[in-house]
Amino acid sequence: MKSILEMLSGGEFVSGERISRELGVSRAAVWKKVVALREAGWQIESGGKRGYRLTAGDSLDPALWTGSLTTARYGRGENRYEKEVSSTNTVIKEMALAGAPDGSLCVAESQTAGKGRLGRAWSAPEGKGLWVSLLLRPNLPPHQAPLITLCAAMAMARAVRETAGIDARIKWPNDLICEGRKLCGILLELSADPDSIEYVVVGTGVNIHEGAYPPELRDRAVSVGELTAKTPLRREVLVRYLTAMEELMTRLERQGFDGVAAEYRSLSCTLSSRVQVSGAVELTGTAEDIDETGALLVRGDDGELRRVLSGDVSVRGVMGYA
Ligand code: BTN
Repeated sequence: MKSILEMLSGGEFVSGERISRELGVSRAAVWKKVVALREAGWQIESGGKRGYRLTAGDSLDPALWTGSLTTARYGRGENRYEKEVSSTNTVIKEMALAGAPDGSLCVAESQTAGKGRLGRAWSAPEGKGLWVSLLLRPNLPPHQAPLITLCAAMAMARAVRETAGIDARIKWPNDLICEGRKLCGILLELSADPDSIEYVVVGTGVNIHEGAYPPELRDRAVSVGELTAKTPLRREVLVRYLTAMEELMTRLERQGFDGVAAEYRSLSCTLSSRVQVSGAVELTGTAEDIDETGALLVRGDDGELRRVLSGDVSVRGVMGYA
């Protein structure tokens, strides 16, 4: 059952009558609870007949969103919410070692040492983005771990499409792109032995408000707020992400790559495009497909088909690559 806080989490007025009916308590009990919440520091406005309104702004406090979850596991383990951490991925690793269950998460208002792919730094200023890491203990062999990255990209693409109505696409393996600029990055960290995965940390950074990324990245990065007339609350994006991620991971665990391949292909902005690969493999060609391990199959300009497992892939027309 929802709490009063969750009923008010949309930021609109909700009448005392409706709260008392939905929670099955008296109007006097609603009032007493509102007084207690105010004493605990929550700002709740009374608007006479209109009822009560929470002025929590865009807070990510789990008290405001866990009641909206329809998931069985994700967001239902240990949920850490912090004003500032070094990196939410680092916090999750500590939680994993201390035995936190599958589906636990850490969400922070800001990170002082946010981590990006390939050893890069990730800027995560206070309140500007959705900086979240999810702990997974999946039932998958280690060689399928890269597919979790693809699921996370699909889940976040669904979340921003559903909450903000924007046409987010996936640049292989896991960047979300809109109008040619980067909206979200994903960093997967794995602890496994040769036969099984101990745990996976899925760190996701989504630029939501203006100021989420450094000004010098203006040509390559974008935030949700720049793409839509009504920016969604970060907790709405988080709840949709957890819902989509649980559904996609369940499909991946049951059916393998075939369970998620069609949706990944339909959301990709890499497939059928001209690409330039740099890193362990250097090559220019056309991205033809993804294989069952999550590798990108690129037809080089010499006509040979090559598997790309990692590295930087530039896609023509995306993030400044002409
Ligand atoms: C990338 O595109 O380079 C990946 C960026 C991943 C950033 C997120 S923010 C939440 C989580 N914590 C981190 O330190 N990194 C990830």
